[in-house]
Amino acid sequence: MSEEQADTVTYTVENGVAWVYFSRPAKRNAMSPKLNRRMMEVLDELEFRDDVGALVLGGEGTAWSAGMDLKEYFRETEANGLRGVRKSQSESYGWFRRLRWYQKPTIAMVNGWCFGGGFGPLFACDLAICSDDAKFGLSEINWGILPGGGVTKVVVDLLPMRDAMWLTLTGDLIDGKQASAMRLVNESVPADQLKARTSEIANMMLEKNPVTLKFAKDAVRRVGLMTYDEAEDYLVRMQEACNFHDKTEGRKEGIRQFIDEKSYKPGLGAYDK
Ligand code: ACO
Repeated sequence: MSEEQADTVTYTVENGVAWVYFSRPAKRNAMSPKLNRRMMEVLDELEFRDDVGALVLGGEGTAWSAGMDLKEYFRETEANGLRGVRKSQSESYGWFRRLRWYQKPTIAMVNGWCFGGGFGPLFACDLAICSDDAKFGLSEINWGILPGGGVTKVVVDLLPMRDAMWLTLTGDLIDGKQASAMRLVNESVPADQLKARTSEIANMMLEKNPVTLKFAKDAVRRVGLMTYDEAEDYLVRMQEACNFHDKTEGRKEGIRQFIDEKSYKPGLGAYDK
């Protein structure tokens, strides 16, 4: 591993799933500019691989991510003036955005601490699973900044206003079960079941038509800002675009296996690709 890659990100690809890890455990996976640059490269390396059908983002050690690196991301880049600040912002926001619109379905597997800037990738992942003992917090208020870099937008999009305001103003920690009850994540499970449950969910993704998954996940993110009529029109166009990109004509095959072959029921699972 080169010096540029050390203490940043690791990944393996196993049975169709890319397991990507924040890999800076000694610094609680705080996001440094070097880590942000490497994460963008890793996402780029994996996005269009035929042997990757879903991506999981986990954390090594006791943290998922302790947020932005207060020394390397804030203090040292500020010392380089506006140019330094804007550069490091574009590197972090860049990979968060890349992940939000990723080609493959993505799952945040939150094993421990998740602070501040960590809410960016948490929201960027389509689904999120955490361990019961994970801890989430907007600690920005505790050191004198507002939750920036999109984080306030993330909590307002994901949570009711009272919960968003509570986390923002108090900096209070919530555990995995509370995060699940608040719908910050889909599910919270005991720590020793986290990887197995995440793997199950990733495998559910692998069973579906991959072209449709990409159109469907983008639609969920897009329609929130549209009027009903705009959304209706957008979804018609997106289905037509999906039909064009899906060279397997999956929807016709799905109907055939149900109506003619009677080999499966769409209400109970995916058709056989
Ligand atoms: N930035 C820079 N360094 C960090 C960060 C961070 N966000 N988080 C942890 N570290 C470093 C510590 O400075 C320490 O370094 P050292 O070993 O060289 O002294 C090392 O990681 C281990 O941290 P500890 O505090 O010793 O670990 P502990 O397990 O006791 O506590 C915790 C973990 C609670 C995550 C604590 O480190 C912490 O509060 N970190 C800051 C969390 C935070 O507020 N992040 C910023 C959010 S706001 C934003 O992202 C915009």
